[in-house]
Amino acid sequence: MVDISIAKSADELFQRVADYWRQLAKTALRDHGKFHVALAGGSTPRGLYRLLASNEYANQIDWQHTRFYFGDERAVPLDHEQSNFRMAREAMLDKLVIPATNIFPLLTDLDNLDNSARHYEKILRRELPVDEHDIPVIDLILLGMGDDGHTASLFPGSTILAEQSRLVAPVFVEKLQSWRLSFTYPLINHARHVAVMVSGKSKAEKLKEVLVDKTGGNPVARIQPLGELAWFVDGDAASLLPADLTKTK
Ligand code: 6PG
Repeated sequence: MVDISIAKSADELFQRVADYWRQLAKTALRDHGKFHVALAGGSTPRGLYRLLASNEYANQIDWQHTRFYFGDERAVPLDHEQSNFRMAREAMLDKLVIPATNIFPLLTDLDNLDNSARHYEKILRRELPVDEHDIPVIDLILLGMGDDGHTASLFPGSTILAEQSRLVAPVFVEKLQSWRLSFTYPLINHARHVAVMVSGKSKAEKLKEVLVDKTGGNPVARIQPLGELAWFVDGDAASLLPADLTKTK
């Protein structure tokens, strides 16, 4: 099932995703005692993470039983300004009382990305329940969308798009001339819930291509989880979507 929630502003988008997170966390804790969430990188999610760590939400979520994973990471030290882990730490994790054992940084061996990926897959298999396909099931995977249609570090034309067995893999991103680690489609598409956050006018053309035209072979278009896919977009990103898609729920 695909749901598209169109907020009037980026702040309202963050509010909607925070409410979604709170609702899913409550259900997960009731059903299996933990809430496993994979964080998105980039810059859009920073506003969500700050909101979750604010007085408005911090006391409404059971952080002790939340487990944090990372959907992708840049091949830089975890304290590097480009690190997704650092962004999440500064925007949210350091502001909350969360045991370090609840947080699983994706990059564990900067000098050997393949080892890091294999090690992380072991962590996922240790921490998460697996489904009937023997794939670990994450309760909520947060994603963004680049203006080129990438998501996580699944970039157009990259080798990782063809990965059908590994759950986490290293990938060299030609356009950035840099290495990354990323969840693969097999892992993402077995999540209970996937939320894609898209904000800003720069994404409007691509969002229309992905949601309406359904052309361009965009990596984000292959995010088709067995569970629920929820798009959270703001008015600027949705500005080229047709009226029947733009009723703000
Ligand atoms: C990253 C992200 C990446 C991001 C998109 C969108 O490591 O950069 O995982 O996939 O989600 O690039 O980024 P913005 O939402 O900041 O535009």
